[in-house]
Amino acid sequence: MSKHIPVLLNEVIEALNIQPGGSFVDGTLGCAGHSKAILEKAGPEGCLIGIDRDKEILEFAKESLQEQEGSSVCVWGNYKDMKKILENEKTNQVDGILLDLGVSSFQIDTRERGFSFMQDAELDMRMNPNEGESVQDLLHRISEKELADILYEYADERRSRRIAKLIVEKRKKKAITRTSELAELAIKAYGRRGKSHPATRTFQALRIAVNNELENLHTFFQNSLSCLKPKGRLCIISYHSLEDRAVKLQFREWAKEKSCELITKKPIVPNISEVKVNNRSRSAKMRICEKL
Ligand SMILES: C[S@@+](CC[C@H](N)C(=O)[O-])C[C@H]1O[C@@H](n2cnc3c(N)ncnc32)[C@H](O)[C@@H]1O
Repeated sequence: MSKHIPVLLNEVIEALNIQPGGSFVDGTLGCAGHSKAILEKAGPEGCLIGIDRDKEILEFAKESLQEQEGSSVCVWGNYKDMKKILENEKTNQVDGILLDLGVSSFQIDTRERGFSFMQDAELDMRMNPNEGESVQDLLHRISEKELADILYEYADERRSRRIAKLIVEKRKKKAITRTSELAELAIKAYGRRGKSHPATRTFQALRIAVNNELENLHTFFQNSLSCLKPKGRLCIISYHSLEDRAVKLQFREWAKEKSCELITKKPIVPNISEVKVNNRSRSAKMRICEKL
């Protein structure tokens, strides 16, 4: 299994204001890097509910948390359903919630999952392969305009219209089923290689679309504060501007209606040495609020 390096690890531990015996939810458990550190700080009386929609990762996390003192339970589910998941676990409110959004290195680096334009595979990109439609099905179904809008809205893709046009032209001849086929179309749209790979934004946008990433975040906002005890902390790490903006606006609204206090006015970002060691952390932004 490819190793996922937890992003802003020390900052997360500080942000959650972890006390011995505290209770926490990690809504995006991944390989449990953050969760292990949370439990370590919370000590033998600490407890954690970890949620991930990816069953494969969840199994790995379960094993790795077994070695950690403190009690933990791993739930296969979507963090948008956190309130229900806590009810099922006979838990009302917790001291801290963490969301570390996006995908893990495990998902990107596992070729068969079809997340990466660097490796040829079936074009899928679903975090839960049993839920929703794959990218290849989406590409087959939607109109050229809808496609261009997804590329533009979810990833600011400057050549959204050109890429959408190329996709539609290609699919008339043959369905696009491989990551390499999609990557080639993005390369063709740019005509040359820039600083980042021409397919970066196309892949990001389509991943966000098939996994309903923004919708999940908005649904989560509707009941997340009720899952926190007073003085409990909510800490969210996002990796692209749309997500960070959604978090910023929601936290501001809660602060305005006096349901939370903003702990971060500006997002916390990784320092240069973290980015050097873990390039995938480069776009991370963390915001924290405390329930009043
Ligand atoms: C960036 S990784 C988290 C890494 C983790 N913090 C660690 O230290 O290993 C994001 C994880 O969240 C999961 N995920 C993304 N959206 C989710 C959702 N709506 N509900 C539950 N899990 C989700 C992904 O499957 C992935 O494993």
